[in-house]
Amino acid sequence: MSFDLVLFGGTGDLTWRKLMPALFQAFRHGKLPPGGRILAVARDPRTDADYRAFIKERFAEVDPAKQPTEEEFTRFAALLHYRRMDLSQPGDYAGLKAWLDERRADTVVMFLATAPHLFPVVCAQLGMSGLNGPQVRVVLEKPLGHDLASAQEINHAVASAFSEHQALRIDHYLGKPAVQNLSALRFGNALFEPLWRRESIANIQITIAEALGVGSRGDFYDGTGALRDMVQNHALQLLTMLAMEPPPTNDADAIRDEKLKVLKSLKPFTPEAVARDVVRGQYKAGTVDGVSVPGYLEEKKVPRGSTTETFVALRTEVQNWRWAGVPFFLRTGKRLAARHAQIVVNFRPVPHPIFPGSARANKLVIKLQPEDGLELHLLAAKGSDQGEMLSPVFLDLDFDKAFAAERVGAYERLLMDAIAGRLNLFVRSDEQEQAWRWVEPVLHAWSQDPHPPRPYAAGTWGPPAASAMIARDGCVWDEEQ
Ligand code: BG6
Repeated sequence: MSFDLVLFGGTGDLTWRKLMPALFQAFRHGKLPPGGRILAVARDPRTDADYRAFIKERFAEVDPAKQPTEEEFTRFAALLHYRRMDLSQPGDYAGLKAWLDERRADTVVMFLATAPHLFPVVCAQLGMSGLNGPQVRVVLEKPLGHDLASAQEINHAVASAFSEHQALRIDHYLGKPAVQNLSALRFGNALFEPLWRRESIANIQITIAEALGVGSRGDFYDGTGALRDMVQNHALQLLTMLAMEPPPTNDADAIRDEKLKVLKSLKPFTPEAVARDVVRGQYKAGTVDGVSVPGYLEEKKVPRGSTTETFVALRTEVQNWRWAGVPFFLRTGKRLAARHAQIVVNFRPVPHPIFPGSARANKLVIKLQPEDGLELHLLAAKGSDQGEMLSPVFLDLDFDKAFAAERVGAYERLLMDAIAGRLNLFVRSDEQEQAWRWVEPVLHAWSQDPHPPRPYAAGTWGPPAASAMIARDGCVWDEEQ
């Protein structure tokens, strides 16, 4: 199957930091379908040779394991081409069309790795130049809007040129092997499904903690904040995969229909609920991994006095028969104690304990990163002279070890799926809009709130209010147990 992959924003950060290394890995693993061309598009004039030299230089800045040898780069570089385009000029799209028409590849993927304000104009121009035929797919990267209205505007522009099945919205968390394993765990195994409901589960905690701060992205981040950057998309996608009903098939729409139902079942936020169930925080100076780091307000390109949140913890419920009354706690933040993403499913304790120590409940820990695996926490009798006292033990599955050779990174997987037209791991417009609909009341309540976000020291687990919030349900965060 021949393909042309067009990278709009071909000299930007996303392209050289994430997409090129992922494409190179696919190439190295022999996964890139033969007969492909990669065409980078950007504003400045360059030759193919200039562009190849630029990418070669940038490879020095990525993970050493993903850097090509001289010989590998020479072979990979033969796929790379460059074209200067002014994205507002119809004539430039006609030139692109002529280039693509030279050989009429089976599949054309337009990857919009540009600033999002360009999405509407690029989609409209692609449509007007006839670059939206059935063999064309368009891939969009977040941020997909700043609120519901702007997300709808983008979706509208995309829909004016492409069908829903041609539009692939990336949430790179869906490309992570650990996240795909959530589906496998629930729908490939009979063991958990009977217990996966309110009768057996006490609460669920989703944590996506980062040790890094905002780095050089202070200006972008300050206009965004943790709720838009991580909760509206990544954390909610994890929640939908945990809470969805079994889909009738493994087809993209069957899965996305079920995920959408979960988003529609989330308890809506009232201003009182935001005050009670949502904690926003902002990091102050502190120590991460033994190194002193500045506070958010001291970061480059962050305006003094900013009230942007770098941490969010919230409580919600999925209002349906399966989950009624089960608290779902979501938490994410920058400059936390560690890079650590996991889901903890806390089961209810046995109804009638007969052994000492058996009041301790089982839990399933789904580790997303940096490790990728499952821990099932149980109780066992040691068989020692300590009578009938039960001891905690756990079954530990390390997927990185088990599947090391076959694992691929998130972008590699998503790019290969985009080329192959597999839509399961992309977000549909109605899912994305519903997620905005749900977070908007929180954004609105914060905009009216005279209090700044709660401070927390870099290198901790966030403001103490996040622990107080979950303590109201008699719960504690996993690391506090
Ligand atoms: C991105 C956010 O979507 O995800 C970043 O914009 C964040 O702020 C990143 O750092 C986290 O991704 P990962 O894969 O490193 O957990």
